Amino acid sequence: MRALSKEHESAMHRAEDYVVELRSVSKQYGETVAVANVSLSARRGELVCFLGPSGCGKTTTLRMVAGFVEPTSGMVSINNIDMTHQPPYRRDTGMVFQSYALFPHMTVAENIAFGLENLKWPRHKREQRVEEMLRLVELPHLAQRLPGQLSGGQQQRIALARALAMRPAVLLLDEPFSNLDAQLRIRMREELREVIRSVDVTTLFVTHDQEEALTMSDRIVVMNAGQVEQLGTPGEIYEAPATSFVAQFIGWCSLLRGTVGPDGAFTSTAGLRLVGNWSAGPGTAVIRPEQIKLSTDGAAGVYLQARVLQSNYYGGATRIVLDVNGEQLTMQERFPFGRHPKPGDLLGVTINTNEIRILPTNDS
Ligand SMILES: Nc1ncnc2c1ncn2[C@@H]1O[C@H](COP(=O)(O)OP(=O)(O)OP(=O)(O)O)[C@@H](O)[C@H]1O
Ligand SMILES: [Mg+2]
Repeated sequence: MRALSKEHESAMHRAEDYVVELRSVSKQYGETVAVANVSLSARRGELVCFLGPSGCGKTTTLRMVAGFVEPTSGMVSINNIDMTHQPPYRRDTGMVFQSYALFPHMTVAENIAFGLENLKWPRHKREQRVEEMLRLVELPHLAQRLPGQLSGGQQQRIALARALAMRPAVLLLDEPFSNLDAQLRIRMREELREVIRSVDVTTLFVTHDQEEALTMSDRIVVMNAGQVEQLGTPGEIYEAPATSFVAQFIGWCSLLRGTVGPDGAFTSTAGLRLVGNWSAGPGTAVIRPEQIKLSTDGAAGVYLQARVLQSNYYGGATRIVLDVNGEQLTMQERFPFGRHPKPGDLLGVTINTNEIRILPTNDS
């Protein structure tokens, strides 16, 4: 057998690596730029989440991958084939829409079999696949029900079964848990992760729920106003936000504007000084609640006196907004029952500066 050329080898490697590729994909509706220059390569079996506020272009991006929206510019490829101008049925994708859109007049089994019937699968093969899919989503007893006779969570799982029945290379999910209660959401997250792992399907998942994104994703695309703010693993996005938008959108944080002096210490505009070893220049300090602790001395960082501005009870913890030397900082602590601080109280706190990031201030 002839040895593969370097180019050939690397092309085959690419084919193996990436199932979905977006290259500078944009979509404009008249004056509105819905999506601007989004690029992404998703590996086989990878779960990539699109996260961002309402209207930032998540659904539009997903629909361009599915083929329901044609990009104004850029390229969408699936399994290394340019699909930019191909209709949805050619793309080997399965989609669960933002509202799950089961066919109301068809039973659960008919819904799941719909795509297979279009492909003219023989009846016994169809039935076999439907059964397999219902087992996968653990609802085999509901095959003959109509969607209207199912709970929201069950409809959700059937929509997922229908999308997976065709064994698509790419699964596209648009806020699939938006209508579920908090507990069912958490259970469905785990179930979906399991299902995705068991069939090894590449999945693009849209959510505006940061916790969902952090717990489920291999990587997260944070979007803002049609653009990608940051693309990274959940750990990278949370621990090393690239912009203040990302820092604020994922988890709680306080942002302090200021300057790092030649000695590496940060001084905020209001004069709060944090000793550290950052690079000199103007910057924004990102301080997470877990970096501030109650304390009586500075053994674990910078010790400060703080005045309580707000105190909100969340059950497991109390979130407190503090005034520290004229800056507002948010911290989180568990207090004994009946001992929650009140606005006006004075607290001693320590800021652990080791993990604080200073972003260059030129971002918006
Ligand atoms: N068919 C359309 N015609 C005109 N503008 C559109 C169209 N579809 C979407 N848009 C606009 O494009 C932008 C992005 O919309 P998109 O539906 O992608 O947002 P999203 O991130 O999914 O928001 P949400 O979280 O609310 O679902 C919005 O400003 C929206 O108004
Ligand atoms: Mg949407």
